[in-house]
Order: sequence, then structure tokens, then C-alpha cells
Amino acid sequence: MQIDVFTLVPHSFAWLTEQRPLATVLGTEIDLRLFGYRDTSPLASGQVDDSPYGGGPGMVLRVDVVAAALDAVYGGAPDHRVIALTPQGRQLDQAVVEELAAEERLTLLSARFEGFDERILTHLCSDAISIGPYVLSGGELPAMVLVDAIARLQPSALAEGSSAHETFSTEFDGGLEYPQYTRPPEFRGWGVPEVLLSGDHGRIDEWRREQSRERTAR
Ligand SMILES: C[S@@+](CC[C@H](N)C(=O)[O-])C[C@H]1O[C@@H](n2cnc3c(N)ncnc32)[C@H](O)[C@@H]1O
Repeated sequence: MQIDVFTLVPHSFAWLTEQRPLATVLGTEIDLRLFGYRDTSPLASGQVDDSPYGGGPGMVLRVDVVAAALDAVYGGAPDHRVIALTPQGRQLDQAVVEELAAEERLTLLSARFEGFDERILTHLCSDAISIGPYVLSGGELPAMVLVDAIARLQPSALAEGSSAHETFSTEFDGGLEYPQYTRPPEFRGWGVPEVLLSGDHGRIDEWRREQSRERTAR
């Protein structure tokens, strides 16, 4: 799968690309390309934004700048999904992540400051995605959230089967995972449920299913 991210701060992705599981699948299952709007801006001095028509605070990412960036990489409008990261978009959840992970190519557009000129959303994008009902300062973290969530679904990203046993997976009917514990068995008087130390895998499975159902129903 190829994921292209357009951003004002390509270097902000350096940390993410060193982290597992993304680092594990980069270059094999995921080809991640980062593009800076300034590098292809048709405006003097790499200008990318401008003040809003009608007045008001902040700067707006220009449509001609984004169009030039897409033209430079794809030679025109790409024939795959182009997703704007915006708090006004369709809210991301695991089902949306799975839908997007099934694509062969994705383009993610991030903005900063006051966001996108509306014509970017209406004419250059196929989708608009929000990572939640709150406003961040830029689309880089939302793009990283999406890239990481997609990376986890790649076949060699995680230990075999572990993504199939997580919160929101079909294993839990889309619900929440059971609570997890590890050593020590007691710390400051805080114990571990006896069933998990019993070695009885039938009882453990039943307890976990019950815990998952209870948490999901809360
Ligand atoms: C400060 S925000 C702009 C908010 C915009 N003026 C509004 O009120 O809807 C700057 C950029 O951060 C990104 N962003 C902020 N919050 C986001 C969220 N919840 N989901 C996805 N992207 C977000 C978007 O790329 C957005 O254009």
C-alpha cells in the first residue's frame, strides 16, 4: 500500500517512522512518502497560505498551492482517494481505518493555522476525515494517527493474531478487550484476578469473554 502525506512539516514524521509497527512494515507492506507544500509552491519564497477573504484571524492554506503539489507528484488529479484531515470530517473509527487500509493508494492532506481553502475540500479531495471532536493545531498528528492505525493492520506488523484480539476487533464483536495483567502477581496489595493464575484455560477464556462483554456494555 502506498500512503502519500502532504504537509507543511514533513520532518515531524521522523519519530513515527522509527516506531514499530510502522517501522516493521515500511518499505514492504507500506510505502510512505512525505511531501512538503513549500517545495512545489508556485508562489514566491515558498508561500503556502494567505489571509481569509472576508477578514478574520489566521491564515488559510491556498488551493493553488495544494493543486500544484498534487500536480507535481501525480501529474494531475490522482485516481485514488485523497483525504483531507479536518475536524469537520467524517469521524475516524476502526471500521473507517479498515476501509482505508483496504485501498492500494491513499493521499492524506494536512493543513495548519485556519485550515484549508474550501475549494481544496470540494474539488481536490474525495474524503474528509476527523480523528475526533476536538481541534488540533495541524493535520500532522491526525495523519500519523491514521498511518499508525493502518500499519497495525498489515499482516507482518504485529505478532501473529494480536491485532485480531484487540478492542473493536470481530473477536470481541466490535467491543472492548478484556483487562490485561502481568508480573508481579501482587503489588502494594493490588492483586491479579485468581482465575488468570489458575492455569485453567477454559476458565480464563470464559472470564475474558465475560469481562469483554461487561466493559463493552458499560
Ligand atoms: C486549527 S485547525 C483548523 C480548524 C478550522 N479553522 C475549523 O475551525 O474547523 C488546523 C488544521 O489541523 C488539522 N486538524 C485539527 N483538528 C483535527 C481533527 N480533529 N482531525 C483531523 N484534522 C485536524 C486540520 O488539517 C486543520 O485544517
